[in-house]
Amino acid sequence: MGLPGAGKGTQAEDIVEKYNIPHISTGDIFRAAMKNKTPMGVEAQKYIDKGELVPDDVTCKIVEERLEQDDTKNGYLLDGFPRTLEQAKQLEKMTDKLGKKLDAVINIDVDPEVLVARLSGRFICKNCGATYHKLYKKPKVEGTCDVCGGHVFYQRSDDEPETVKNRLKVNMKMNTPLIDFYKKLNLLHTVNGDQDIADVTKDINKILTNLN
Ligand code: AP5
Ligand code: ZN
Repeated sequence: MGLPGAGKGTQAEDIVEKYNIPHISTGDIFRAAMKNKTPMGVEAQKYIDKGELVPDDVTCKIVEERLEQDDTKNGYLLDGFPRTLEQAKQLEKMTDKLGKKLDAVINIDVDPEVLVARLSGRFICKNCGATYHKLYKKPKVEGTCDVCGGHVFYQRSDDEPETVKNRLKVNMKMNTPLIDFYKKLNLLHTVNGDQDIADVTKDINKILTNLN
């Protein structure tokens, strides 16, 4: 977990590769559904375009269906879910039922002031979804995706400054109760997300190694 732009997606790319587990990002699932104009995508777009959260019932249903799939039996990484106390409670029920309980919750902590600048510099490979930043994470060869060699990049429509401000406001309100919830369950680990990407990765790896 972490506020918009904290680096959840960036760090997730690394973790899922290392542990060979599925990356379940509710944001990615919504964006794919919006692109394909499915009924769920059309519904989600109304909220995402304004920087609001998609309602809990829609979001929880998607995650439950995803966790029921077989490829999560050796582990999985959730990115951007849960984001409300209700989602966290629902997740406890689902993972109990499925025997797929959480091992850890990693909170990437970054000063909100830094985040607007981070999001305005983000760009994404259209072909494979790899995330870059115009200052902090440039492709090794300019204009070419490191992962797939693609040449077409785009910016997310919800990274407009006004939408970003609302995303931050909405998420900040929800963050404290979630942190308290996972502290009580003894699952919470907080890393300082205001360092170089590689240093954040190191801190996360230390936490994950100590779990095993
Ligand atoms: P989602 O896609 O989850 O967006 P978000 O939470 O706003 O997070 P981001 O993807 O913007 O940020 P990130 O933390 O992944 O940062 P990144 O690694 O890309 O959700 C989108 C929308 O869908 C939500 O607004 C909501 O409407 C809806 N939604 C999703 N889940 C939901 C849920 N559970 N309930 C309800 N609604 C939901 O990094 C950002 C940039 O910074 C990149 O350019 C990166 O290269 C750079 N960067 C990363 N780390 C560093 C670093 N350490 N130093 C410098 N730059 C860095
Ligand atoms: Zn790519």
